[in-house]
Amino acid sequence: MMAQKVRTTFIAIVVLIVFLASVYHYLVRHQPVISAQDPLLSPPGPLYPNPKYAIRHEDAPNHESNSRVNSAVSILLPAWEILVVVSTETPLPLDSNAYTCLFPNNDTSPARPAGILPSLDRNLFKCDLPVRLRRRLPFPQPILTKSPENPPEIKSPASALLRWNFLVYDSLTTENDVILFVKGVNNRQGIHREPSEFRCVFGDDAIHGVRTAVKSSLQEVFRCPRPERTGPVDDGEPVKVSLEISDQKLVMPSVAYYTPARKIALQEPKSPICACTLVYNAAKFLKEWVVYHSEIGVQKFFLYDNDSDDDLEKVVTELVDHGYNVSTLFWPWPKTQEAGFSHCAIHANDSCAWMMYMDVDEFIYSPNWLNSSTPSDQMLPSLLPTGNHVGQVIMNCYEFGPSNQKSHPVLGVTQGYNCRNRVENRHKSIVLLNAIDASLLNVIHHFKVREGYRTKNLGMDHAVVNHYKFQAWEEFKTKFRRRVSAYVVDWTQAVNLDSKDRTPGLGYAAVEPKGWAEKFCEVYDNRLRDMTRRWFGMEAPSGNHMAWQI
Ligand SMILES: *[C@@H]1O[C@H](CO)[C@@H](O)[C@H](O)[C@H]1NC(C)=O
Ligand SMILES: *[C@@H]1O[C@H](CO)[C@@H](O)[C@H](O)[C@H]1NC(C)=O
Ligand SMILES: *[C@@H]1O[C@H](CO)[C@@H](O)[C@H](O)[C@H]1NC(C)=O
Ligand SMILES: *[C@@H]1O[C@H](CO)[C@@H](O)[C@H](O)[C@H]1NC(C)=O
Ligand SMILES: *[C@@H]1O[C@H](CO)[C@@H](O)[C@H](O)[C@H]1NC(C)=O
Repeated sequence: MMAQKVRTTFIAIVVLIVFLASVYHYLVRHQPVISAQDPLLSPPGPLYPNPKYAIRHEDAPNHESNSRVNSAVSILLPAWEILVVVSTETPLPLDSNAYTCLFPNNDTSPARPAGILPSLDRNLFKCDLPVRLRRRLPFPQPILTKSPENPPEIKSPASALLRWNFLVYDSLTTENDVILFVKGVNNRQGIHREPSEFRCVFGDDAIHGVRTAVKSSLQEVFRCPRPERTGPVDDGEPVKVSLEISDQKLVMPSVAYYTPARKIALQEPKSPICACTLVYNAAKFLKEWVVYHSEIGVQKFFLYDNDSDDDLEKVVTELVDHGYNVSTLFWPWPKTQEAGFSHCAIHANDSCAWMMYMDVDEFIYSPNWLNSSTPSDQMLPSLLPTGNHVGQVIMNCYEFGPSNQKSHPVLGVTQGYNCRNRVENRHKSIVLLNAIDASLLNVIHHFKVREGYRTKNLGMDHAVVNHYKFQAWEEFKTKFRRRVSAYVVDWTQAVNLDSKDRTPGLGYAAVEPKGWAEKFCEVYDNRLRDMTRRWFGMEAPSGNHMAWQI
């Protein structure tokens, strides 16, 4: 009898424990947790229900105790990173490592300096969104402070973080119009909304601000005429510019500014050919690329820096000291390769005639140069047709494999990689900036040219691009972690396996595939290696080296 009772009680307890455990399990699983995979790919939804809310980030108070830096606005990037745009009023002290992001629930995360926002010359910091805050919308804006234990008093409740996928992130001004770079409106390839659905809005007052019509809206690029004036007082100071989605009466969040007093176009003659490229941790390859292309006729180099954390600035300074015209522009926006190309076309239009769009692991040469004993700055210009309305030339690429290299070749990629796939793949372009269509539309490395111009493929007898795509495993691994094209997902995700941007046989794991060093090696091709060795090789008692090892 007794034993029976004990057994029943025991069973009851076990049942109760199992029941409680499953309730707990259910509750934990059904918390409003935002997917850690991509919290940002969902549509903006109720975060910006009305224009007033969308512009709330502007109401940050102006004067605070000096332990606080006015952080005008913060943006949530992928992987829970936050970009904090510091306002210009606050001069930054030298020990800028001392800052912390402080959140309304008193969680903190360290803030690290992250470059300058080019359109406004503002300092940027990055910090991570604390784990506890990732579970529930809206994600609050942090404040940047030097003393999180003793934070300044905050009068207004924190507004929501802006999100990189719904944002006016940059703006440029030409003689006639203002160009906005906008995320989250035309967000699928080939789907574009009519210009008449939008207006540009100038000034901080989103409700009464001056508006002008959108004349063109393709990809992330929106063009509007400049306003007659931007407000009651027009003192030439920068004013905020944003995009209104008319039918939703919604003014988008913006970190872009319009400067009415634009400097007059440079009077200096344009360089015949410049180059524009998006870089991430390319310092190691940069000298070889700049020295080589400069010797064959590229005069200026515009680097769009995707938040590199190598010594890019140091290498650029060294190149500038050696007389090369290289400039960098901080371009941290995710998946904006096409927009970066469009931006560069406008940015460099005053100083360049033709623009070469190529990556730092790509080198162009002509088989006709192979017997030349020295390079000449007329070589590349001689490939460009004059007259006959060619507005863009296209060159095909050969993709090189690791060529049995186990690490980065010290003499340079042109010297180390000499084995490639047989068939060419993809292409690169050099475009006449005057011939680009006003929409600035571009896909996979070439632009739409305007009526009256055409695009010509130079053919591989005249121009070849050596693409050192599959490098020694250590190099390749870091490069492909951060793919750049706007419409290709991260290579480590098990989707889009057929994309041309994937590496055959690689799958989606970041482990070295068997036999990597011998892969993508169908033919040996020593042409560029031998030519550059002749042009740039230097014999020295301490060992041979190349001219770019400066
Ligand atoms: C955060 O800390 C401050 C000062 O230490 C305190 O006054 C405030 O109540 C705290 N806020 C929260 C949400 O815990
Ligand atoms: C820059 O790098 C980030 C992070 O790896 C990546 O998600 C993003 O697409 C890159 N941006 C551009 C413009 O390539
Ligand atoms: C580099 O190019 C820029 C843009 O055209 C120009 O303003 C600058 O003067 C050039 N610098 C040198 C050192 O030539
Ligand atoms: C280079 O020289 C070689 C040997 O003299 C010759 O066969 C070849 O046709 C030349 N190539 C060019 C592009 O002039
Ligand atoms: C560059 O400027 C010229 C006028 O000087 C203009 O016709 C052309 O469209 C501009 N190109 C781009 C890409 O804006």
